[in-house]
Amino acid sequence: MVYPPASISNRIFWKVLLPTGLFCVLLALAALTYPSPKSKSSLTSPLETCAWNHLEPHLSLLSVPPIRRSEFLGRQKALALELDAAGVDAFIAEPSASTSYYANISSSFHLSERPFLMIIDKDGQFTTLVPKFEAGRIAKLDMVFDNKTTITWIEEESPYEALARGTGYEKVMIDEHARFMIAAGLQKAGIEVVPMSETIQSLRSIKSLDEIALLKGINSFTLALVQSLQRCIQIGMTQEEVIDASQALFTRAGVGHGFWVLALFGDQAALPHGGETGRTLQEGEFVLIDIGSELHGYCSDVTRTILPTGATVSDDLMAVWQIVWDAQSAGLSHMHAGEACSAIDGASRDVIKRAGYGQYYTHRLGHGLGLEGHEPPYLNGANDQKLKLAEVATNEPGIYVTTEEAAFLGKKVGFGIRLEDPILVTENGGVLLTGSRAQSPWNP
Ligand SMILES: *[C@@H]1O[C@H](CO)[C@@H](O)[C@H](O)[C@H]1NC(C)=O
Ligand SMILES: *[C@@H]1O[C@H](CO)[C@@H](O)[C@H](O)[C@H]1NC(C)=O
Repeated sequence: MVYPPASISNRIFWKVLLPTGLFCVLLALAALTYPSPKSKSSLTSPLETCAWNHLEPHLSLLSVPPIRRSEFLGRQKALALELDAAGVDAFIAEPSASTSYYANISSSFHLSERPFLMIIDKDGQFTTLVPKFEAGRIAKLDMVFDNKTTITWIEEESPYEALARGTGYEKVMIDEHARFMIAAGLQKAGIEVVPMSETIQSLRSIKSLDEIALLKGINSFTLALVQSLQRCIQIGMTQEEVIDASQALFTRAGVGHGFWVLALFGDQAALPHGGETGRTLQEGEFVLIDIGSELHGYCSDVTRTILPTGATVSDDLMAVWQIVWDAQSAGLSHMHAGEACSAIDGASRDVIKRAGYGQYYTHRLGHGLGLEGHEPPYLNGANDQKLKLAEVATNEPGIYVTTEEAAFLGKKVGFGIRLEDPILVTENGGVLLTGSRAQSPWNP
């Protein structure tokens, strides 16, 4: 471009452009001469700044409303019907994912030796058993119910006897997360206790449309976060830089609560859940990122094995990445309603066995995902339960070879490769809750 451009008259050049230009030059000189105060950008790492630019356009993925009151009440009704059918008087839970699910009582409520119980009976009656001196604090919780009865117990009596007396229940079902002392106490008070049934477990493992929307929102956002990291990670960065930037990105997006991450370089990933820290990324190494957070209590869990733009690994390692991808494809194609969990795990395992890495695929294919990061259904070789419509489970095969084992395979250093997407079970097959699968280590 010719300066000044022909379209700009001489008058504008002398009166506006030249003085403005001179002013800018003076400002730049001033900035160089005087030390500038610590700017905001010096508090954010270059990795975070770079990744945020790619991630920010995806923030709308998180615009999903929390579970509504009517849905909580519907869950309580469905539970009551199943309790009635099972011939038990009531379902009893301590603060846990189950109380989050049925009554919006957070699982983060601190469990002490003094029982605080949520009780829903076969008629749909909602009751809490609370230590008398805690009643005020517990009443402040954002609990959802139609009509609540509160049974308070004082320190001079057994809470379980207070419950037995107050309800007249003879047989109750105990939540899978309730402590043994609760079951023992109830039995001592003369109430028969039975474990949580598969039918009642599946009330929570089968997701509603609103739950699916939340899981889709947080999981597709989590994938976008991994993609934004991939575009900005460089050889020479440390594992801690990746971890810190990940946390900062989730926090900036407003979903830092519940955040966790594994960022493993090269042979460090040979242990599926990591080991040593403080590594610096070298040329020829994969980066395994396994990461998640929460949106209104619903969890994300996504893994990608990536390479920085322009970086490479040996053809040998690329071939192993492809084997893991093929194993994930096999798992995905079996994730339809009615398929046995063990058969889905087996389908992914066959691919890896045929490629000669069977013994290096050391964990199950996946686990359910919802209010808990790991929940039923579990996709492993021992579980013959069949997947149900609208359940959600991760599909995450992997191959892990330590540096000691690498010698047997004619390789110099160990490695670990895993790819993970949470999947919604439908009649016709699995639907990705991340929105898309990895295309390559450079396009996760
Ligand atoms: C559930 O609890 C959360 C956190 O306390 C609260 O923000 C939300 O409004 C509650 N939901 C309902 C339906 O009451
Ligand atoms: C609430 O439940 C109690 C105990 O079952 C019952 O006596 C009462 O009538 C109920 N109240 C309403 C408004 O449903």
